[in-house]
Amino acid sequence: MTDTKIPELRIPAEALHTYVRTIWERAGSTPREAQLVADHLVMANLSGHDSHGVGMIPRYVASLADGELKLNAHAEIVRDAGAVLTIDGVKGFGQVVAYEAMEHGIERAKKLGVCAVGLRNAHHIGRIGHWAEQCAKAGLVSFHFVNVAGDPLVAPFGGIDRRFGTNPFCAAFPRDGKTPLVLDFATSGIAYGKTRVAYNKGVKVAPGYLIEHDGTPTVEPKVMHEEPFGSLLPFGLHKGFGLAAMCEILGGALSGGYTTRESTLQKTSAIMNCMTSVILDPNAFDAPAAQEEAEAFIEWVKASPVQAGVERIYAPGEPEDARREERGANGVPIDPTTWQQIRDAAAASGMAGEEIEGFVRQLR
Ligand SMILES: NC(=O)c1ccc[n+]([C@@H]2O[C@H](COP(=O)([O-])OP(=O)(O)OC[C@H]3O[C@@H](n4cnc5c(N)ncnc54)[C@H](O)[C@@H]3O)[C@@H](O)[C@H]2O)c1
Repeated sequence: MTDTKIPELRIPAEALHTYVRTIWERAGSTPREAQLVADHLVMANLSGHDSHGVGMIPRYVASLADGELKLNAHAEIVRDAGAVLTIDGVKGFGQVVAYEAMEHGIERAKKLGVCAVGLRNAHHIGRIGHWAEQCAKAGLVSFHFVNVAGDPLVAPFGGIDRRFGTNPFCAAFPRDGKTPLVLDFATSGIAYGKTRVAYNKGVKVAPGYLIEHDGTPTVEPKVMHEEPFGSLLPFGLHKGFGLAAMCEILGGALSGGYTTRESTLQKTSAIMNCMTSVILDPNAFDAPAAQEEAEAFIEWVKASPVQAGVERIYAPGEPEDARREERGANGVPIDPTTWQQIRDAAAASGMAGEEIEGFVRQLR
C-alpha cells in the first residue's frame, strides 16, 4: 500500500462505481447502501464536483472509526404532520438517509402538492444537487437549505472569525425531455476544498475570498490550513451572508437539528448536515404554460452576446451536464494522491490487499 508513483488516472465511471461499492460492502454496508453511496459519489465526480466525490471516502472511513457514521441506518420519521415531515438521519450515511427522506417527501408532494421535509442528524449528504435531481426525476420542483452543523469555516459579513459552515443552497426545476435546471452552490465564495488544492499546489487564490485571523484580506490559502486560522468569506457580501444564515436556521433549527455555536462545535472530522427541503408538484399550480415560460426565458437569456473570452452562456446545471458527457466518455480523472488515499481507506475498511490490487490492475 505504499506505491505513490501512480500516474494520473482516468477511470471509467462504471469501474469506479464497482470499486466504491465493494469498499463499503467490505466495511459492512448492505449491497443497497453500498450502491447508494457509490451512485452519489461517482455522480459528483462525473458532474465535475470532485470535492464531493470518491475523494470523500477516506474521511468517511475515519468517521466510521470515530463512531460518527453508522452503517445501515435508515431515515426515521419522527413527526408526520401531513405536508410537513421531520426526519432523523440517526448519523446514517447521508447518501442513504437523504435519499430516503426525499422518497418520503416525493410521495407526499405528489399526494398533497407540496411537502416540506426537515432532515437532521445526517452524516455528510454530499452534493445537494443529487437530492434536487431525485425530486426532478419524479417531475417535482424543489429547494433545499443546508447547514454543516458545528463545523465553522466562514466569517459573517463584517466579522473576522469563522462562525458557520459553507452552508449550501440548492433549487431545481424539471424540464420536459431535458435534464433539470439545477442551481447548487456553497454560500462561501469558494469551497473549502479549493483552498486545499491551492495550498497543496503552492498557489494563491483570487482576492476577495479569504481573510487572516485578524480580518486582514489575503490570497494565501494557508490561512485555512495552518494556525492561526483565518476564514472564508461568504459570496456576494451581505447577500451571501444572509443566505448562509438562513441555510443555518432553516436547515439546522427548523429541522429540529442544531445550529453552529460554541456548545455544538464538532470535535471529530465527521461532517454532519441538516437540510430543510421544500418539494412542490408543478401540476398543482394553475400554470399550464410553466414549461414553455421557463424554456422561453432560458432561450432569451442564452441569446445574450457573450463577453470577450466567454465561450457560451450556461443555464444552471448545464456546466454539470457538459462535464457528465465528457467524463462519461473519457473517464473520471483522479489525482495520484487522492487515488492512494482511497486505496489506503479501502484497506482500512476491510478490503484485502489482493482484492484492491486486482481492481487497480484492471483499471490501469
Ligand atoms: N454537504 C455539504 O455540507 C456541502 C457543503 C458545501 C458545498 N457542498 C456541495 O459542493 C458542491 C460545489 O459547490 P460550489 O459552491 O463549489 O459550486 P460552484 O461554485 O461550482 O457552483 C455550482 C453552481 O453554479 C452553476 N454554474 C457554474 N458555472 C456556471 C456558469 N459559468 N454559468 C452558469 N451557471 C454556472 C452550476 O450549474 C451549479 O448550479 C455543490 O454540489 C454543493 O452542494 C456540499
